[in-house]
Amino acid sequence: MMPCIQNRAVVSSGMRCAFKKRVSYNGQRKQNISSLSAPEAGKKAYKMRQSQKQSDKGYSLDTMLAHAGIETDHSRFNSPLSPALHMSTTYERPPSGEYPSDGFIYARESNPTRKLLEMEVYRLETKGLCKDTIGGTTTAYASGMAAVNAILMACPGAHVILPDDCYHGVSSQLVTILNQHGIQHTMVDMTHIDMIESTIQNLASQNTKIIVWMETPSNPLAKVTDIELVCRLVQHQETQLGVKLVTIVDSTWAPPLITLPLKLGADMVMHSATKYFGGHSDLTLGIVTTSPTTQHGRELGPKLREIQTKIGAVASPFDSWLCLRGLRTLSVRLRQQCKTAMELATFLNDHAFVTKVHYPGLPLHPQHDVACKQMTQFGGMLSFELQDAATAFAVVGGLDLIKRATSLGGTETLIEHRASIEPPDRVTSPTGLLRLSVGLEECTDLKEDLAIALHIAQEISAH
Ligand SMILES: Cc1ncc(COP(=O)(O)O)c(C=O)c1O
Repeated sequence: MMPCIQNRAVVSSGMRCAFKKRVSYNGQRKQNISSLSAPEAGKKAYKMRQSQKQSDKGYSLDTMLAHAGIETDHSRFNSPLSPALHMSTTYERPPSGEYPSDGFIYARESNPTRKLLEMEVYRLETKGLCKDTIGGTTTAYASGMAAVNAILMACPGAHVILPDDCYHGVSSQLVTILNQHGIQHTMVDMTHIDMIESTIQNLASQNTKIIVWMETPSNPLAKVTDIELVCRLVQHQETQLGVKLVTIVDSTWAPPLITLPLKLGADMVMHSATKYFGGHSDLTLGIVTTSPTTQHGRELGPKLREIQTKIGAVASPFDSWLCLRGLRTLSVRLRQQCKTAMELATFLNDHAFVTKVHYPGLPLHPQHDVACKQMTQFGGMLSFELQDAATAFAVVGGLDLIKRATSLGGTETLIEHRASIEPPDRVTSPTGLLRLSVGLEECTDLKEDLAIALHIAQEISAH
């Protein structure tokens, strides 16, 4: 409980405090502070608050985000409230020749701004996990795809089970690069637990290591995988089949405020921080956190750190700084984006010209119940279908406010015809599907833009 000061102080510098009333603290002994100077009163209150902090229940994710990057070094007052951007690639070596163990040597190895981002994301991803969150690690990379690569390199020789509609960049990396390095993959519909189970059973006879790669909601069909259920199945299968089964969740569409995959039992969680974490379409960064509570998580953390620094696809200081800055507004951005996305999904769903809407917040979404269980909000991403590609292109062409661009999670609403951007031999999106990344514009403006574009497309198709 905060001290309750019953009368406002009128303080002039260096003068005795003019508090007339008393301070009650935790209902304990009342103390007359009129004998203290204002600075003394401040210091005393600070000390009392710090001593009771151990028992504080901890702040909510929203609050943690609003303070992302504020260094909490209580031994040092007068700290900056916006983090410093450290651009130096190298650090002076002490005359003894030994770098301090917690110091910095060279920017690829470690950088204070990147380290601060990693620490912040670690605190977010492990929120509510357990009291002792030591043992996991967060590593930041030059992009989401570099993070994907680091994860897969940390499990050499593994067979990867992927969602059948996962982000095409992941399957492309596997097909064009990693298959040649002994990493094979199989794609399944992850919304069917029995399919995951039978795939694991089939693969277990030839593989000693399997990665179960979840992406939820998936890009672009917004399918929702039941993370907790899959993790429980995997743990059971691991004991039964005697194979190593590692779980990872690409939670790019569901940042920590929405879903905390480590809390649901996953060994790792990753994000393309290029998207919601950054939030302004101006940085490229990927981030992975390993669980401190699972054996695989604890083992993989140091491996990922080694891959990050030895391969060198590290997040740049400036992108790390921008990402810290983006995190500060993540909760308000996301709340607004989720609210607008829900309204737009409902509007599109009611529109006669739209054949299908994919949004986990709609009660008719096939995994709506799972979404309600593991998502606090339903996200700012949705996709919808028109009868064919030409109709979809006509809708896109008829838009004015909504921008035609790839990527997602920024302040501006983006639309994309996914099938035409996916590799031609691995198109997973229906030809008439458009993906919408909802931004921060006024919802009525977005709805009107869509309504006009749908009307134009209807007129064109009628002639
Ligand atoms: C779900 C998902 N994962 C990973 C990535 C790759 O991230 P990046 O573009 O930052 O490399 C993307 C990019 O769109 C994505 O949507």
